[in-house]
Parts: sequence; C-alpha cells; structure tokens
Amino acid sequence: MPGDLDSLLKEKRIFKPSLEFVKDSNIYKWMEKRNIKDYDELLELAEKDPEWFWDELAHELEWFEPYTKTFNWNPPHAEWFVNGKFNIVQNAIDRHAHGEQKDKTAFIWEGESGEVRSLTYKQLQMQVNKFANVLRDLGVKKGDTVSIYLPMILELPIAMLACAKIGAIHSVVFSGFWAKAFQERINDADSKVAITADGFTRRGKQICLKENVDVILENTPSIQKLIVVEHAKIPIEMDSNRDIWWHEAMEKAVFECTTEEMDPEDPLFILYTSGTTGKPKGVVHVHGGYGVGVYTTLKFVFDIKPDDIWWCAADIGWITGHSYIVYAPLMMGATSVIYEGTPDYPDPGRVWSMIEKYNVSVFYTAPTTVRMFMKFGEKWPEKYDISSLRLLGSVGEPINPEAWIWYHEVIGKSRCPIMDTWWQTETGMHLITPLPISDLKPGSAVKPFPTIVADVIDDDGNSIKGGGGHLVIKSTWPAMFRTLYNDPNRYEAYWSSFKNTYLSGDVARKDDDGYFWIQGREDDVLNVAGHRISTAEVESALVSHPGVAEAAVVGKPDEIKGEEISAFVVIKENYHFETSYETVLRHHVRTEIGPIATPKYIKLVGDLPKTRSGKIMRRVIKARVKGETVGDTSTLANPEAVKEIEKLD
Ligand code: WT7
Repeated sequence: MPGDLDSLLKEKRIFKPSLEFVKDSNIYKWMEKRNIKDYDELLELAEKDPEWFWDELAHELEWFEPYTKTFNWNPPHAEWFVNGKFNIVQNAIDRHAHGEQKDKTAFIWEGESGEVRSLTYKQLQMQVNKFANVLRDLGVKKGDTVSIYLPMILELPIAMLACAKIGAIHSVVFSGFWAKAFQERINDADSKVAITADGFTRRGKQICLKENVDVILENTPSIQKLIVVEHAKIPIEMDSNRDIWWHEAMEKAVFECTTEEMDPEDPLFILYTSGTTGKPKGVVHVHGGYGVGVYTTLKFVFDIKPDDIWWCAADIGWITGHSYIVYAPLMMGATSVIYEGTPDYPDPGRVWSMIEKYNVSVFYTAPTTVRMFMKFGEKWPEKYDISSLRLLGSVGEPINPEAWIWYHEVIGKSRCPIMDTWWQTETGMHLITPLPISDLKPGSAVKPFPTIVADVIDDDGNSIKGGGGHLVIKSTWPAMFRTLYNDPNRYEAYWSSFKNTYLSGDVARKDDDGYFWIQGREDDVLNVAGHRISTAEVESALVSHPGVAEAAVVGKPDEIKGEEISAFVVIKENYHFETSYETVLRHHVRTEIGPIATPKYIKLVGDLPKTRSGKIMRRVIKARVKGETVGDTSTLANPEAVKEIEKLD
C-alpha cells in the first residue's frame, strides 16, 4: 500500500512456520527424498539446474508423447517440453475421471443467494465433454478463439475446459467489465463463437449481461453464434438465427469426446490485461509450460494435499482465477470452493461462514479484502469456527505489515503461515513467493520460486540492495507468456530495456537476506483493489465523452483499496452537462470500461500541466494528489496549471 512504504521499510519481524508444519509439507517431503537439506540449498540447486527441477515435476503429469528437451531459451523466446504431445485437460480432468478420484468433488459452488451446486471429477468430465461437442458441432476447431463473458458460475470453467479439450483458445472477459470491453476483445481475437449468460446478481441486485451483449454484437462481424446460459432468470430476447441456449444444446450433445493432442507450445488462452497505453494487451499462454508451472506452484506454495479444501477467492475472469481456480487445482485433483457473490454480502461474516461450512483449509485472497475485513472487526470471524484453516495466501498488491499481522493472528490464529505471492498475468504462475518452509517477514514476498532468477536493478542494469529499483526476471520459466496476441512487437518490449531481462514494471527492494519487498507499479498502471487499470485506458474513456477536451488520471492512495482513481478533466468550451459533470462522467467510464474503472474523484480544471512538447505531466499531478512536493516544474509549458491544481481541495 503506497502510504505504508515507511512501515514496510521498518519491518523487522520474522515468523517461522512450526517444525511440524514444515515436515508435513509437500516441498519438504520432495526435498527429503532428494537429500536437499534446506531452503537455501533447494534454491541454489534449482537455479543451477532448472532443467532437472522442471523435468522432475513435468513427469508427474501425463503426456501423450514424451518431450525430448525440457526447454530452449533464446531470449525473449522460450519453448518448453519440445516435441512432446500434451493437453492440459487430459491432466486436469480425464486422468482423474478415469481413476480412483472419479467420485471426488472437484468444485463446490455457492451462489450469492446461498444456492449450492457441486461437481465430481466424473460429472465435470461429462459436462466438459458435452460442451466440447457443442463447440465442435458449431464448427469450432483447433486454433480458433472462443470469447467468453460469464459470471462466476460453473459454466465458466466448463466452457474454458471444453475449449482447451478441443484445442480452441479461450478468451475470457471479466463479467464486471462493461460489454464494450467484450466487443473490443472479440474483435481482436476474431471469434466466431461467443458465450454469455442472461445475467447475474450482485448484492442482491440483478445485472443483465445478454441485453448489453446484443448491442455490442452489432459491431463484431466475426461472431456467428452466441451461446447463452440461463442463470439469473432475467427475461431476455433470443435471436433465432444467432442465439443458442446452453441447456438446450447440452441436452442434445453426446458424452464421447476425444481430447486433442496438442503441441505443448500451442496456445491455451488469451487474457487481456492493462498496459501503459489505452489498448489492452492480449497475453497468450500455452498448454504445456503453463500447465506444468501452475501445477507445480500450487503443489509447493499452497501445499495442496488430497484432503485439503482450497478456496481461491478471486474471479475466474483474472489470471488468478485462470491459474489457481481452474487449471492448477484440477491438475492436482483438489476440491475447490467457488463463490459467485460479494465477500461481505449479506453481511461481513459471509466468507468466514463459508470457511466453516466447507471446512476450507487453504484460503487465498487479496490485501484489499483483508483490509476491508479488518475494518469490519474481529467480531465477524469470531462468530464462526474457522479452525479448519492451515495456510493462507495473499496476491495482487503489496500487503502492508499491519494487515499481514491481522490476517495471521485473527484469521490464521497465529498458526497459519501466509504465502504472499508476487506474479502477473504475463508470468502465469507465482514467481516470487515464500514456500511453507520459509521464514516469513510481514510485507515481503520472500524469494524467487525455485529456478527463477529475480533481481532489483538500477537504470544502468546494476544489481542493487537496500534501495528501490526495477524488479526484473533473468531466467525463463515454464508458464511465461509466449506473445501478445496480434502484437508481437509489444511482447519484445518487455525485454528491450535490459538485455535478456524481463522488466516487470514493478518497483521493489531487496534486503540483506535476499528477501524481496514489492513496492508497486513504476509505470502508469494503477492497482485498484488488486486490479490492474491503465491510466491511459481511463483517460481515453473520459475523452471519448463529447464534453471532455482532455483528461489526466492518477492514483490516490487509499487505506482499503490501495489506490483510488482520481481524474482531472478539462471540459470543452460551451459544453453543457445535463446533470452534474461528475455523475455524467462516472457513468460514462462505467459503461465504457466497467465499474472497477470508475473514478472516485473527478475534478474540473482549466488546463493540465504539460511539457513543452505537449505531454501531460502526470508526475506533477500525482505528487499533488499524494500531498507530496511537486518538484521540478521548469520543463513545464504552463506552470500556472500546477497552481490551479494546488488550489483544489
Ligand atoms: C501486478 C500484476 C498476479 C495476480 C493478480 C494480479 C501487483 C501482484 C503482488 C504481491 C505486491 C503484487 C504487481 C504486479 N502484484 N501480486 N504479492 N505483492 N504486488 O495480476 O493484474 O497481472 O497484476 O499486481 O504490481 O505487477 P495482474
């Protein structure tokens, strides 16, 4: 959390997991078999010989044909499990559905209203196979893209897995984005088939999806068919030439379905994320390396064992959900909880009541949620028996030590270690993270995962200790993204600042023990409640309104959400807003992008501070919003603009 940098820098406490916990962990047992004596030796051996490490783990999975080489690394391009044949679904479903695990529960789903549905591995396979046949019958083939816009219901993982089974590439769009985002992504991916639902409920209120999808499909020439899941029971209109009910298609579909044998490097999915420009980046992940990477990290970081009940409380529409709700837990043969609703609905006890009800043993959430629960107070978790918990996780943004301690003591009863996992949409899997055997420091993501070479460097590329610098990765890893869809040059850009080095876009600090402390983004990307939002994306949404001439968007530090979106806008002369400009512009951004991108603060100004070449000086505005001194403004073309911003409250 930006405001907490000082406390992060001062944090000195160390928490050691109990010996019993360590000895029982997957990673400890794995090391024991190989005579590896401790964490340091593990990291050393793995860094020296990444091929050994990944080859051993990859052998825990099923291959249609074995690979001949673990990886080729020609920065920035990697190829993993060369010449093998693989399908992630063979490993996520088929091998369990045909084995002893067939009647084990794969997913327990709970809707906001309290409705519960669950699927065993065998039942999941039935649904996935049938839906894969529905897609095949519509002409979807290996390499085709399918665009998916569904709430957190079981049909979402079913649709994703069905695509993967037949070698199609899924592109999931978070259902909290507005349909415009779906339109953009359908057009970028050129999908013939799209999937949505009638709608869903949020805090008891119905939200329609299909109605909005109908509007945007007028601008997506590639779409031939829209499959619609009936979920919220909202009355909708169906276009008889284009629209198909999910349940009707499933009734007719057969169960038998072959799993496509894929090259491990074949794309599995595209997931769009925010970059520094207004255009989202289509991050591409592949079957083989991604599969092995997410499987291994879930096994070793979250220590999933056959009896665990795993709850990753993210949305499947983000990478956290793709990797650690859908693919990794199924590959592990785990039982997972999926919750459709808001964590504090109908009251702030919801999450804790579900942990009690389902005996959740490993729980993974974002710091913003921890801080929200901290504000509600201990009385809510105290109402429930949450003693089934044994391990906790954090992701999405730096966790401030105060929230870490609360999470550890109040939720983890001072017993559960916290895995603060640093990673990104692009990395696909955890890259900097503790393991159950690590000593923990509140607020630190600890050390790189075995084989990963991470560093903090200055502008000249020199490694630095103690101070803040660019967080970079200097090795390949199996789940690394392979390209950006339709945009290979932008992929190369991640490696263009420093030779053979991946620039993460985060600022971090490495302490004397080699522990990493992530401090936040260094580019114009905001982190609002653990979600990446580009300032440029919000700015372009604002200026697309006929009344707005110019806009600058910056993050304002916020106690709960990490950052809040703060917008400064210049209004066109003679433009008249029907109601307050704030209401109009907030609504506009909401419909252009979605509720998560809605600016909390909007201020009108006559001019924005600019350089002589006309670039908006966000640095100056940011300093003002954070209450810091503005610094050197000598390069500004219009210093009066700063004065105006300073006068605002
Ligand atoms: C950005 C990536 C990876 C899943 C969720 C977000 C921030 C992520 C941590 C952490 C500090 C973190 C970084 C990163 N971030 N995890 N444990 N500590 N910061 O995925 O949307 O691709 O965002 O989230 O700034 O670059 P994403």
